[in-house]
Amino acid sequence: MEVIKKPICWFLLIFVFICTTAVAQGPSSSATYIGVSKCQMCHSDTHKSWQSAGHSRAFELITNVGEEKNEKCLPCHTTGYGKGGFVDTESTPDLKAVTCEACHGPGSEHNGDKTKINRMPSGAVCGSCHQTLNIHAI
Ligand code: HEC
Ligand code: HEC
Ligand code: HEC
Ligand code: HEC
Repeated sequence: MEVIKKPICWFLLIFVFICTTAVAQGPSSSATYIGVSKCQMCHSDTHKSWQSAGHSRAFELITNVGEEKNEKCLPCHTTGYGKGGFVDTESTPDLKAVTCEACHGPGSEHNGDKTKINRMPSGAVCGSCHQTLNIHAI
């Protein structure tokens, strides 16, 4: 009995692995940032709740203190800075602040395809900006 069961177990294990990998897919390495107004076109409700929360004001926070061009602040107060995302207010106005793609990844290939977007941003994504060290004490 044992001898017959084992190959079946391996088959199941591999099958489960393939399924999980397929579900866990996210943006591919060639995906690019498209900006929050593109996401808004299809996700207007999510956009509304985003707009009423702190992340949408992240860029204002650094503008208020005159640091909107300080490259030390931009990685956490904009979207995709240094990773093909935010460059400056003029050329990439839609990537100001912490927008959808800061958490869900670049969305150029998604267009409604669930496998081409990070559906469940992990704690590590949050932690890249919400660090335990008090970065503002500098
Ligand atoms: C790109 C950087 C970045 C990422 C990624 C990020 N945050 Fe933030 N977060 C900020 C900044 C900057 C603020 C300050 C905004 C403010 O206070 O108005 C903030 C504020 C917040 C706040 C308080 C403001 C509010 O809306 O009530 C919470 C809660 C929060 N973040 C949770 C999270 C969680 C959970 C994640 C991951 C799913 C996450 N953040 C990912 C940068 C980031
Ligand atoms: C490592 C990511 C990171 C960097 C770099 C960063 N911030 Fe922040 N900032 C945050 C987060 C996260 C918050 C939300 C509150 C918190 O957790 O401290 C925030 C909040 C703020 C606030 C709201 C008031 C406060 O302290 O809570 C101001 C103002 C601010 N940042 C300015 C700046 C400026 C200016 C720079 C550059 C000198 C900068 N930040 C660099 C992540 C960052
Ligand atoms: C600070 C990180 C963060 C930002 C910014 C963010 N999301 Fe999310 N989003 C999450 C997390 C984490 C989940 C999964 C947990 C949940 O459902 O709340 C999620 C869930 C979702 C879902 C599936 C569940 C639902 O509510 O329908 C959609 C769709 C979505 N986000 C779209 C967006 C869009 C569009 C924006 C921009 C307007 C956005 N998100 C901004 C972190 C973020
Ligand atoms: C052309 C319309 C369209 C655009 C543009 C679009 N989405 Fe979606 N999105 C959808 C649809 C439709 C679904 C649901 C797919 C499904 O249920 O099979 C979805 C699903 C999602 C999910 C997963 C929700 C879940 O339940 O698993 C996230 C996260 C998400 N979108 C984020 C974004 C972000 C971020 C952007 C901007 C970069 C964006 N979307 C742009 C149509 C769009």
